Amino acid sequence: MNSLTAEHYLLEVKLRRDRTPSFDTYPFSLPAVKELGTLKLHPKVTFIVGENGSGKSTLLEAIATSWGFNPEGGTKNFNFGTRRSHSELHAFLTLGKSVKRAKDGFFLRAESFFNVATEIENLGVGDSYGGRSLHEQSHGEAFFAVITKRFGGNGLYILDEPEAALSPSRQLAMLVRMHELVDMNSQFIIATHSPILMAYPDADIYQIDETGFSRTAYEQTEHFLVTKAFLGNPNRELALLLE
Ligand SMILES: Nc1ncnc2c1ncn2[C@@H]1O[C@H](COP(=O)(O)OP(=O)(O)OP(=O)(O)O)[C@@H](O)[C@H]1O
Ligand SMILES: [Mg+2]
Repeated sequence: MNSLTAEHYLLEVKLRRDRTPSFDTYPFSLPAVKELGTLKLHPKVTFIVGENGSGKSTLLEAIATSWGFNPEGGTKNFNFGTRRSHSELHAFLTLGKSVKRAKDGFFLRAESFFNVATEIENLGVGDSYGGRSLHEQSHGEAFFAVITKRFGGNGLYILDEPEAALSPSRQLAMLVRMHELVDMNSQFIIATHSPILMAYPDADIYQIDETGFSRTAYEQTEHFLVTKAFLGNPNRELALLLE
C-alpha cells in the first residue's frame, strides 16, 4: 500500500444528521443514508457494495452531484437531464475535500450511459472514442471506450455498476485500466456487484446492510462468498436451490 503518495481528492463524505428532516422517508430511510455518519474514502479506490435497493446509487448520485457532476452522469460540463427527479440528498452531504485539485473527473452510471453517450456526441467529441461513434458501438464497447479514452488521470471517477456492460474479460481489462489511472493520481468511488472488480487490492470495501456500513475484507464479502460457493460446485448449489 502506497497511500501516502496517492492523490486523495475526496477524503470523506459526511451526512448532516442534525439537518435531516426525518429518517423515515426516502432517501433518508435507506440503509445507505440512515446509518451514514462520516464515510472515510480510500485515497485510491473505495467500493460500496450491498443488496439491491440498499441505496448505493442514491448515495453515489448525491456524492457526484455535490462534487459538481451532472446527476445523470458525465463531467462538470454536462448539463443534460432526462429524468424528472433526483433525490435531494446532496443538499445534506458535506464533502471533505483535500487541497489537491482534480484535473479530470467523470460520473459514469451504467443505467444512464445511453444519455451520456448522446451528450458526448452532441458535444462533438464522440469521434475520439475508438474512432467510432459511441452509438455505433455495443453497450460494453462504448462504455469501455469512455473508460479507456476519456478518463485521463489526475481525476475523481465515480462509477455506478461499471460491470453491467462488461464481459468478465473486459472486467479484467478494466482492472488494468483502473490500475493505470490510480498510478496517474486518480481516485475511484465505485458501487458494484462484481466479485472481479472488487478484488482490486489497494482499496477499501464498505458493505451496506441494515446496520450501516462495515469495512469488509474482500474474501468476507457476500459477493465473493456466494460466487465462490456457486462456482466451486454448480451442480450441488443448483440441486440445493432447485430441489
Ligand atoms: N423517488 C423515489 N422515491 C421513493 N423511493 C425511491 C425513489 N427513487 C428510488 N427509490 C427507492 O430507493 C431504493 C434505493 O435505490 P438505489 O437505486 O439507490 O439502490 P441500489 O443500492 O443502487 O440498488 P441496485 O443494487 O439494485 O442498483 C430502492 O428501493 C428504490 O425503489
Ligand atoms: Mg444501483
